Amino acid sequence: MDSLFAIPDGVRRGLPASKATIARSIRMAILEAYRVKHRRPPPEMKAHSTRAVGASSALEGAFPDTLIKCAELLNRTIEVDFVDINVGCPIDLFYKKGGGCGLMTRMNKFEQIVRGMKSVLDVPLTVKIRTGVQEKVNLAHKLIPELRDWGCRWSLSGNHQMSSLTDSLLHGRSREQRYTKLADWEYIKRCAEIADPLPFFGNGDIFSFEDANLALETGVSGIMMARGALVKPWLFTEIKEQRHWDISSSERLDILRDFTNFGFEHWGSDMQGVERTRRFLLEWLSFLCRYIPVGLLERVPQKLNERPPYYMGRDYMETLMASQNVNDWIKISEMFLGPVPPNFTFLPKHKANSYK
Ligand SMILES: Cc1cc2nc3c(=O)[nH]c(=O)nc-3n(C[C@H](O)[C@H](O)[C@H](O)COP(=O)(O)O)c2cc1C
Repeated sequence: MDSLFAIPDGVRRGLPASKATIARSIRMAILEAYRVKHRRPPPEMKAHSTRAVGASSALEGAFPDTLIKCAELLNRTIEVDFVDINVGCPIDLFYKKGGGCGLMTRMNKFEQIVRGMKSVLDVPLTVKIRTGVQEKVNLAHKLIPELRDWGCRWSLSGNHQMSSLTDSLLHGRSREQRYTKLADWEYIKRCAEIADPLPFFGNGDIFSFEDANLALETGVSGIMMARGALVKPWLFTEIKEQRHWDISSSERLDILRDFTNFGFEHWGSDMQGVERTRRFLLEWLSFLCRYIPVGLLERVPQKLNERPPYYMGRDYMETLMASQNVNDWIKISEMFLGPVPPNFTFLPKHKANSYK
């Protein structure tokens, strides 16, 4: 998720994007890339930008010509470590137009897109896929050899920087499953074996160092974490140090303080910047509240698919941070960002849970 998304607005809606729309989106991406590289805004960059930043660019779409043009422009104009095609997106809006994971069943288009994008890129092209589209019909294992046949080569030394490389990232669920079932790591293991020596990454439900260790035992080249990193941003430290961290509420508040400071740096500290920072902070708090402190758990580690029960924290802040109530998230945001404007409302955008 820490990617620089350059998705033309038309493509977002599953429509062919006009040249002007593509140009606008690419311009945004270029400005952001300048900011990342030079650690300051480019001269013409406005105070407020709407893009997430990182060293990769994720593209999603259904039309080879649009995606290839985007890749060409990205290649010419910005510096990224790799470009990723998002063939994992389950959202109806994209799927019904043949984009997102819909591409997994449109092999001709998918092939044209992969071959076309690879031919214009100097950096590696990665593809993020799902296990399949329907719940019990796995497709990924059939797709992986195709990806290779479409001209994808790989480095025998596993060097991810080769320009001819196309890695695959597998999210271990189907489209129909969304978050309702556990990711199928047995299947990911099978796919990793088929993919070998093509670098292949697994993804789904990792929330502790034990989860990460088990996932790595499947033989994948690496793992990715999404919700785990949102609910427990210190997950990476836990994996590195192979321990459960009973982090205190004040340490968690420090993380939120850093986040708001990054928000000001990125969006500005005027009213617009503060309110944008607040929106993102509130979205994040809708994930952070799912964390149960290690010291309060009957059984360690917490699992990502288990609904956190109501509990009292060990201090006031721990209890407040466990609240599932939007008004409490707003209260936390006010500690860093001051009172919300009049008539302020907030509805979290992502549900992304599998609670029964
Ligand atoms: C808030 C949120 C935003 C996401 N955005 C993207 C996205 O833009 N592109 C993508 O390929 N996957 C996206 N995903 C899916 C994740 O990358 C990941 O595949 C999925 O959440 C399963 O991993 P997890 O069990 O570690 O959460 C998103 C997930 C969440 C929770």
